[in-house]
Parts: sequence; C-alpha cells; structure tokens
Amino acid sequence: MIRWSTPLLLSTLLGSSFVGQAQSVTFHADVAPIIYAHCTECHRVGEIGPMPLTTYDEVFVYGEFIEYVTATDYMPPWTPDDTYSHFVGERVLTDDEKATLSAWVAAGKPEGNPADNPGIPSFPEGSQIGAPDMVMPMAEPYTHGGDMTDQYQVFVLPADPDNDLAIRALEVRPGNRTVSHHAILGLDVTGTAVNLDAQDPEPGYESFGGFGFSAESNFFGAWVPGALTLEYPPGIGRVIPAGADLLLQMHYGPSPIEETDLTEVNVFFAEEPIEREVETGIMGPQHLDQFFFLPANQERTFHGTMDVAADLSLLSVAPHCHLIGVSWEVFATSPNNQDTIPLISIPSWDFNWQGFFTFPTLTKIPAGYTLHGIASYDNTSANPFNPNDPPQNVTFGEGTTDEMFFVFFDYVLYEEGDELIALGPSDDVPCVGDLTGDGVVSVEDMLYLLSDFGCVTDCNADVDLDDAVTIADLLQLLSAFGEPC
Ligand code: HEC
Repeated sequence: MIRWSTPLLLSTLLGSSFVGQAQSVTFHADVAPIIYAHCTECHRVGEIGPMPLTTYDEVFVYGEFIEYVTATDYMPPWTPDDTYSHFVGERVLTDDEKATLSAWVAAGKPEGNPADNPGIPSFPEGSQIGAPDMVMPMAEPYTHGGDMTDQYQVFVLPADPDNDLAIRALEVRPGNRTVSHHAILGLDVTGTAVNLDAQDPEPGYESFGGFGFSAESNFFGAWVPGALTLEYPPGIGRVIPAGADLLLQMHYGPSPIEETDLTEVNVFFAEEPIEREVETGIMGPQHLDQFFFLPANQERTFHGTMDVAADLSLLSVAPHCHLIGVSWEVFATSPNNQDTIPLISIPSWDFNWQGFFTFPTLTKIPAGYTLHGIASYDNTSANPFNPNDPPQNVTFGEGTTDEMFFVFFDYVLYEEGDELIALGPSDDVPCVGDLTGDGVVSVEDMLYLLSDFGCVTDCNADVDLDDAVTIADLLQLLSAFGEPC
C-alpha cells in the first residue's frame, strides 16, 4: 500500500492547474480591483468599516479573515438572496471573485507589481445627485458614547410649516460616517415625535425599533453606507405635508471613543407635478395566520397575506423585524397559484443591515394577486442575537427585547409601460428589445418579434410585458434598434 505524505496528497488532489493559478494571483493585479470595487467604500478612514482596506499591507494583515468573510457571504453586507430577486445597488461577489481571494491567500498573499494596481476609485463626496433644493439638518450635534454600545436615536426635522413639499429624492448625508451605521426616515403629521423629543434630555430621543410610536404608515425610506440615492422617475414622487416633521432615526455603531454627529437630509423637489404619489402598503400583525406571540425557547414562523385590489407597481420592499427574527420571504401569487412573483428572500436576517430594497424597474403586481410575507423567529438560546438570556416570552412592540412583523411596500397604481421605468442606474435595466440577449438590438430580434406577433399569452417577444405581442412592442423595438445593450 502506498502511503501518501499529507502535503504530497494535497498537492496531487488540488492539481497543478490550481497551484499554477494560485502562483499567478497577486494583490495589485487581481485582489486590489475586487477590494476597491466591493470593500473600500466602507473600509477606508472615516467610514463605517472597522479597518481600512486600501493598501497591500492593510489587506495582507486581514487576508485569511477576508477569505472567510467573503466565502461565507458575511461581507460585503447584502442580506437579500441574489438568486431570488434583484435590487438597485446589489453588493455581491461572484464565485470567480471569491475564488481569486482564496487563491491569493493560498499562494501566500503575494504583492505582485505595484504598476498593476488600478488605483483606489474616487468615491463621491457631497451629494450623489446634485445640489439639493433644501437641506434639513439635525437641530444640534449628537455625541455618541465611546462605550462600545449601539445607539438608536431619533431626530425631529421640521419640514415647511406652510407648504406641502413635492419630493423627487431624499438623501441622507451622515455627518460622521465612522459611527453612522444606518438611518431610517419617517414622517410624523401628529406632533408625537416632538413631544417624545421634549421628554429626552439628549438631542433627539432614544428609540430602538422605529420611531417610538405606532410604526404604521410613517416609514419613508432608509439609508445604509454605500446606498444609491433613489430618485423618483418624472411624475412620480412623495409629498411631505405642510407642518409635518421628518423623522431621522440614526443607528450609531459601537465606538471606543466619543464621536459627534450632525447628519443632514438633502431634499430634492419634484421638477414636474407629481401625478402619481408613492404610497406605502403595510403588511403587519393583523394580516397574520396566527396571533403574534413568541414563547420562550421556541421557534415560530408567521405567514401574512394581503389581497391586491388594483394593478400595482412596486418600487421597493422592506421587511422589518428585530433581533429574534431569522429569515424572510416575500412574494406574490396569482389567484390560481400558477404564477409566483418573487420579491425578496432574506435567508439570514441581520437587524443591522435592514433597508428599503429598490427594484431595478417598477414591478407589476396584478389585481387579484395575493402578497405573502413569511418570517421565522428563533426565540431559543441558539439564536446568538436573542436579547434575552435566558429566553423570555416576547410580544409585539418597539423595544429592543420586543419583536415586530412588518413588510413595507412602496407602490404607485400601475400604468402601462411601468415595467420599463428604471429606478436605478440604467445598466441595471434589461435592454428593451434585445430578445436574443446578445447585447444588441438587431435584425434577428426583429424577426423573432415578428414571428411572435399577435401572440396573446406566454409571449416570448412581449417587450412591454403586457401579455401580448402588439404594435406597441414593435414600436419599442424599433426605437431601440441598433442600440448596444
Ligand atoms: C456597506 C459597508 C461595507 C462594505 C461594502 C464592506 N464592509 Fe466589511 N464591515 C463593515 C462594517 C460596518 C463592519 C463591522 C462589523 C459588522 O457590521 O458586521 C465590517 C466588518 C468587516 C470585517 C470583520 C472585521 C472585524 O474585526 O470584525 C471584515 C474582515 C470585513 N468587514 C471585510 C470586508 C471585505 C473583504 C469587504 C469587501 C468584499 C467588505 N468588508 C465590504 C462594512 C462594510
């Protein structure tokens, strides 16, 4: 019997091609482009990432850790399953990119030739979308602890006392990015938040889950580091009523030293009259199949349903729960259950990386469909985020040790052609008319569309997705003719 020595066996099993590849992978040529594209926006001085990842030395020190956090999809932070549905600003590494990081570590993290380094990209300072029409700052700076704890603080930003504001975009500009982990915006037309602020001696008031009073109908968007600012398409927008308050909930991450923040919200007014006001549909505990209660030491799954009465176009979806929640799946089904529209799946919920997830284009949910939200909770001690040790019975509420079940759907009423309205950068949008997917709208696509012309169900060449191949599809294809995608 042949006895293989372990190193010999390993190198035989791995094969020479792997070792060959590993030897040729260097920091400057192969690793730096991945780090700069996916990590450095947060991992540089003054940003939320706990250490900078900008130079060979900095990345070298964390090499094995980087391999681990990327292989496990812990970094870059992106909780939705990208094989289930897609969103604007998705942060995911390809399998090839992960393999390159592993190969680099396996090869002993070689530096390579500095001339191969593509250089750190220039990250946008200031507004992403131009000069704001109005800036709503926190009234006074807030100092966050130096005690390595998280802090959730709500600040009340008064809007225009006399006029409704027609909004094209709201952009959160953190004053201190080292501790600004995420922000949630809300709207208060009741004056409740001002009273809560008055009772808290600190600037703003403390509130963990939301804004400290009924969360219904007052979420207005969210921000996380690296998020793209959502600009509503022409004719679509939101309105902040005269006299209302914008609420800014800041989540400040742990810090070993005191940090001071003064965050501002940039307000961009709609350039055209808002014909379609964005509304928020909320699935909450009243839509569940059972009473919302989480007994100690048990896991429970809740299934919420809502019927869709009119054709809707969704802009974004935002599941929301606290620390005991472990997973989410949100989708829509047709009345006969033959069609399912996947909306979002979060296999491993992380309270710290919750957000409003924006679809690349408006997403149609036809009338008669049912929206489903399924959330699982683990109220045992096996859940490392369980705030109670030992586990306690948990009810619905705003506090750190309470739980929630909400799905927020931002929508407008559907109009024909909505599926083609982009909500993010245009490269996120499938090229209209490129039926063969070869990257250009060509004669071949034309022939393909013509062969399908007149089709009324399951049409492959249905460019505008109205369930028929019509003159409208033909015109759209002609208008894109010759375009590279
Ligand atoms: C959107 C911001 C953001 C991006 C992008 C990002 N990180 Fe992070 N990273 C963080 C934050 C914040 C933490 C602190 C811990 C946490 O929240 O999990 C962290 C923690 C880490 C840690 C653990 C450090 C520790 O001591 O616990 C590693 C390693 C890491 N990131 C590597 C990466 C790599 C590699 C990438 C790119 C592939 C990346 N990160 C992309 C924000 C980011």
